[in-house]
Amino acid sequence: MAPSAYIQPVVDSTSVFKADLFRGKVLFCTGGGSGICRAMTEAMMRHGADSVIVGRKLDRLTQTAKELSEATGRTCIPAQADVRQPQALKAAVEKTIEQFGRIDFVICGAAGNFLAPISGVSENAFRTVVEIDTIGTYNTMKATLPHVRASKGSYIHVSATLHYRGTPYQVHVSAAKAGIDALSAVLAVEEGPHGVRSNVIAPGPIGGTEGVDRLSLRGDSGSWTQQAHPAGRLGDVKDIANATIFLFSDAAAYITGQILPVDGGTEHLRAQFLPYPQALLDPASVQSMIKAKM
Ligand code: COA
Repeated sequence: MAPSAYIQPVVDSTSVFKADLFRGKVLFCTGGGSGICRAMTEAMMRHGADSVIVGRKLDRLTQTAKELSEATGRTCIPAQADVRQPQALKAAVEKTIEQFGRIDFVICGAAGNFLAPISGVSENAFRTVVEIDTIGTYNTMKATLPHVRASKGSYIHVSATLHYRGTPYQVHVSAAKAGIDALSAVLAVEEGPHGVRSNVIAPGPIGGTEGVDRLSLRGDSGSWTQQAHPAGRLGDVKDIANATIFLFSDAAAYITGQILPVDGGTEHLRAQFLPYPQALLDPASVQSMIKAKM
């Protein structure tokens, strides 16, 4: 019988990184009301940062801010803004400065998505996603940059891996995320001399998020195969949070303009012609199949 595949552990950032790493620092996070960006914000707060979470739904933001403040002992405040509206974002930045006096870190994470083939994506639908993801990222960069320059701070943009190949039903998001990757590279190069870094985190499928639960026709996180991942499991929001802590820390001082896929190696897996991971865990079991082909 084949041995079972190793499953990489899910760890809390506080078990690896210093608790006061970001004490006195301030995070500005779009899309922080839920999902991956909420987890990134929570982790930053557990390491001492205060935060502002930005989104369209004030109720959800207010509730999340309360929960994050209670859970971490730091301060999180909500700022309602649609990232498609530059003036609203500027107001959110002003609110941040009034409250905390600075911005050290920015997460550009607000995003929109739905499943539809090119024939089912209207011009307005395509534009809407590019406006939220790509132009929203640009608007967030513009609104925050003077403050991030002043603090010699850092950006993380939340992108994806799906545009590395042709992902069906994702034409709008593929174009939008490719744009985000490009924006980050230019920001890194232009702002490097001012002491600002910019990187992209590209999450693979992350369990329990809208991306997997709402968008995938393959069912919820629990029904996804645990075996088709080199890391042995689906991603967890803590995997993205841990990458965030590292990239915002001084340990990543020489890393800028980069794209870091956090996907457990899934993007590299091309094993359509082999039983995976059986062929690696129990090579003898596939020998007869190979012999028959050769
Ligand atoms: N299939 C095809 N087109 C769709 C669609 C779907 N499932 N959902 C929305 N659209 C189209 C709309 O029909 C409209 O186009 P039209 O004017 O030609 O009819 C266009 O997209 C804009 O939709 P609207 O609902 O007015 O935009 P919105 O700004 O309120 O919502 C979305 C933005 C479309 C991204 C929406 O899905 C959303 O807000 N999602 C929540 C956030 C999210 O997606 N999170 C997941 C991140 S992975």
